[in-house]
Amino acid sequence: MVSSAPSDPGRRRRLLYGRRKGPKLSPHKEELRRSLLPQLTLPLEPGRDPRTYFATAVDDVWLEVGFGGGEHLIEQARAYPRVGQIGAEPYEAGVAKLLSKLEGAEVSNIRIHEGDARDILEALPDACLGRVFILFPDPWPKTRHHKRRFVQMGLLDILARVMVPGAELRIASDDAGYVDWALERGVAHPGFAWTASRSVDWKIRPEGWPQTRYEAKALHGPPAYLSFVRRGNM
Ligand SMILES: C[S@@+](CC[C@H](N)C(=O)[O-])C[C@H]1O[C@@H](n2cnc3c(N)ncnc32)[C@H](O)[C@@H]1O
Repeated sequence: MVSSAPSDPGRRRRLLYGRRKGPKLSPHKEELRRSLLPQLTLPLEPGRDPRTYFATAVDDVWLEVGFGGGEHLIEQARAYPRVGQIGAEPYEAGVAKLLSKLEGAEVSNIRIHEGDARDILEALPDACLGRVFILFPDPWPKTRHHKRRFVQMGLLDILARVMVPGAELRIASDDAGYVDWALERGVAHPGFAWTASRSVDWKIRPEGWPQTRYEAKALHGPPAYLSFVRRGNM
């Protein structure tokens, strides 16, 4: 799926992720995609206040980019019932995994976009998100693939637009190259401030950061946890 950015409607957007389809889904997961996914799908109406996307009243809305199997998303939804959680994930099997966890669960504050998180960011109005999670994004380690990394200066511009002043941007990675890349950009961006003051602040998973499935495997090295705050003036 390659779609266009609103700032340049004629331009084809770069594809950031590797695959949408995985192994064949079980009949039950296929059924959940048919029955439950349409009920939970985010409508994506440009400029609409995202709080109105949820069936129950919410005071704030958070976004998780690339939720994988949805473990972190569902844990945050349970921990904060008055916060609407939007999750984006293009990988069908990941979405199906989340659906099977949500089936019969008493969770009403999750909305899903089965696709690129940038579709959501482009549709959101200014200053509407209280938190954004980019947890273990695909590292794209080869130099020629760095342009596919989700964290880019242009993307931080968009996040600065949609996040409220004081909102938190969490980025975690177990790829040292990606950590340096994200830190360099986050620190250089005028819309964000890195909150760490000591090395333990980014070396040890802070309270309230539920572990993700990918993180549990820690494939490349020790994870780093970067927390930025959206500055009040920009
Ligand atoms: C390495 S996995 C990590 C998944 C999960 N966050 C975790 O920690 O278990 C990265 C995920 O990001 C998703 N992804 C990649 N590009 C994306 C994009 N543009 N929008 C939303 N998700 C994306 C991939 O499909 C993949 O599931």
